[in-house]
Amino acid sequence: MVGRLEALRAKGRPLLDLTESNPTRCGLTWPRDVLAAALGHPDLPGYEPTPNGLRTARGAVTAYLAAHGARMDPAHVLLTASTSEAYALLLKLLCDPGDEVLAPAPSYPLLEVLCDLEGVHLVRTPARYDGTWQVDWAALADAATERTRAVVVVSPANPTGALLSQGELDLVEGLCAERGLALIGDEVFADTALAEKVSVAAARACLAFQVSGISKVCGLPQMKVGWIAAAGPVPEVRRAMERLEMIADAYLSVSGPAQLALPVLLGSRERFLGPLRERLAANRAALGRAAGSEAPFAPLRSGGGWSAVLRIGEAVDEEALCLALLDDGVVVQPGFFYDFERQGQLVVSLLPEPDVFREGLARIARRLRAG
Ligand SMILES: Cc1ncc(COP(=O)(O)O)c(C=O)c1O
Repeated sequence: MVGRLEALRAKGRPLLDLTESNPTRCGLTWPRDVLAAALGHPDLPGYEPTPNGLRTARGAVTAYLAAHGARMDPAHVLLTASTSEAYALLLKLLCDPGDEVLAPAPSYPLLEVLCDLEGVHLVRTPARYDGTWQVDWAALADAATERTRAVVVVSPANPTGALLSQGELDLVEGLCAERGLALIGDEVFADTALAEKVSVAAARACLAFQVSGISKVCGLPQMKVGWIAAAGPVPEVRRAMERLEMIADAYLSVSGPAQLALPVLLGSRERFLGPLRERLAANRAALGRAAGSEAPFAPLRSGGGWSAVLRIGEAVDEEALCLALLDDGVVVQPGFFYDFERQGQLVVSLLPEPDVFREGLARIARRLRAG
């Protein structure tokens, strides 16, 4: 599929890309002068190597978390170059090669790659859809072995938009505390939650790490800033932060100018989040209209995030459909990229311009009807 897509792109074939998840390619960009002003900090010519990140930048992260109802100490925040790097540092902290990490599936595909790169085995246990997404927590608890070191929860989840409830957070926190596991909460899509949400930053019983970054919170993937915010029993948090600082000191990967700009960028995040929420709402509404009673696909209920899952029926071969859609000039992802328990899903990004999104949906419907 990737080869076919690259060949079409190389030929300059116009494509409606419903996999686009880079906001800067979907008309959701910051004004140039605002970014230039944020980067024009008086301290720009200097360099302060700090493994955990500049105090002002960490303070900006705690202010952001406070706006989400989590009071954190800036000493318990460590900056990273991205959320992906936050995962990598945490896996180095928590795991030895051969250890295991548990996560409910469907899940974000890069998680497996990030685990593989650290020699860690990602063990996925199912979440099932019955009008809402239900994680099989008993299966997750059963999957824990003496090699398990952490549980990862993504909320809102990618691609399903499933939101962790307070009851589920209590449950997974209790499991982690009982088995001596760390809890990693990926909350990159928290600002797009459509219902009340909880944060692992509120965890008290077990060592927990909230991870996020401005690639999703501000729509600025090019700035390369993410973070880890640690919560839980204070002695464990302190030990973890000391070791994380040692790991981060080996790389010092977060750019100084981006750290200096972080308070302004995070403080101005509504510049991005406002138009983003409008785009997501417009495309969700278009999806609702396209999915009338005669439609050959049905969107699954979501609690937020940047993508939507379309159920197309188990009889449809996902890969064959995606290849046929490429011939129709539409790029979509098959559900199997995300490890759904059963086949019969497509995943579409909700970021594209509304006319691109609507026309893409129309072509998906046409192709499905054609059989
Ligand atoms: C759930 C989830 N976590 C993390 C990331 C990576 O974020 P970053 O760009 O900050 O590395 C993504 C990117 O799509 C994501 O979907």
